[in-house]
Amino acid sequence: VIDIASLYKQTGAFTYDPGFTSTASCESKITYIDGDEGVLLHRGYPIEQLAENGDFLEACYLLLYGELPTKAQKADFDERVTRHTMVHEQMVWLYRGFRRDAHPMAVMCGVVGAMSAFYHDSTDISDPQQRMIASIRLIAKMPTIAAMAYKYHVGQPFVYPKNNLSYAENFLHMCFAVPCEEYKVSPVLARAMERIFILHADHEQNASTSTVRLAGSSGANPFACIAAGIACLWGPAHGGANEAALNMLAEIGSVDRIPEYIAKAKDKNDPFRLMGFGHRVYKNYDPRAKIMQKTTHEVLKELGIKDDPLLDVAMELEKIALTDEYFIEKKLYPNIDFYSGITLKALGFPTTMFTVLFALARTVGWIAQWKEMIEDPSQKIGRPRQLYTGEPTRDYVSIDKR
Ligand code: ACO
Repeated sequence: VIDIASLYKQTGAFTYDPGFTSTASCESKITYIDGDEGVLLHRGYPIEQLAENGDFLEACYLLLYGELPTKAQKADFDERVTRHTMVHEQMVWLYRGFRRDAHPMAVMCGVVGAMSAFYHDSTDISDPQQRMIASIRLIAKMPTIAAMAYKYHVGQPFVYPKNNLSYAENFLHMCFAVPCEEYKVSPVLARAMERIFILHADHEQNASTSTVRLAGSSGANPFACIAAGIACLWGPAHGGANEAALNMLAEIGSVDRIPEYIAKAKDKNDPFRLMGFGHRVYKNYDPRAKIMQKTTHEVLKELGIKDDPLLDVAMELEKIALTDEYFIEKKLYPNIDFYSGITLKALGFPTTMFTVLFALARTVGWIAQWKEMIEDPSQKIGRPRQLYTGEPTRDYVSIDKR
């Protein structure tokens, strides 16, 4: 590891690294990834163990505080989050200002950004207590905000949080309960939702987290920073990939058409890529994808879906890609987005909601990373350099002489 900051001070030299492929932007104690081995740890704990044994709020506590909670700490944390699940009633008017066919991610960018206007009493970032209140507010209100975006999208009345339910149950309830009908959340589906949230909770310095850190480095308030992260997450190369992966599986349609798409993915003159394959850091199987695959099967079994053509295409595509020279050589394995789309569709979400669910779950990672940055005494405003490739100095020419 080269300390570029001191190298720059001594020599004036700086590095050119488009896409930050080999440049660390910060020190962090939150998440560790070994991309070659396919390992993901949060505060040292393997993702497999967290997803198997704990719930999402336990993972939130771990990311925020650095340790797993005791029983009393967990009960207190759950209570604090639950107390903040409601949003200010005036926020309803904010939703109504959007076109009813607006993409829910467009709504999310606006509504989360506007939280700083509703909760400006927790925007003093110099006060540790206010930082924690803003963090709790974000974790607590994101399911409500996301469910409201969904209800607005499908034209149904908003459903208020039910605080005797777990985090995932409450979210499913706010999305799928309708007036005058009994809605009971299936424990298997709630557990699957919980696992999806845990798997997406943090992933070190990906594009959206780096965006949150960069926005936060100027001292911007946490709600504005999270809105910036949501905007970045929306891109199809990042959080939009599960929506794109499901669309791709539907476009392929049947197992016999897979070779045609594999050929397209390999053709350098064709911009097509197999969505849900490849990762900047994992050059091995994404550990989250394995858990996601298992969760997909559990959800389909619970819902009695025996023959899902999309799942058939996905399983066969994975099999072929894992034995294909091109994919082996380039170390392209399925990432989490490959299976999450099928699961979310089975749970009843339209594809337009997929990235919203990712944003909901990633909020804790963003806010934990933001807090870590603010609390780091060596923190500076993020200010990348550039290699200027434009015109050299030249003289102004008056408009009648051009
Ligand atoms: N299908 C076909 N070829 C691919 C794919 C793919 N999905 N991904 C990478 N490649 C090829 C590239 O064409 C490139 O080939 P080359 O060496 O001949 O030029 C090589 O593999 C390396 O690809 P890069 O784009 O340099 O890898 P990078 O690390 O920049 O990109 C990314 C990673 C963006 C995830 C890429 O693999 C991709 O576009 N995948 C599809 C989108 C996707 O699933 N995104 C989700 C990411 S995970 C997340 O956000 C939760």
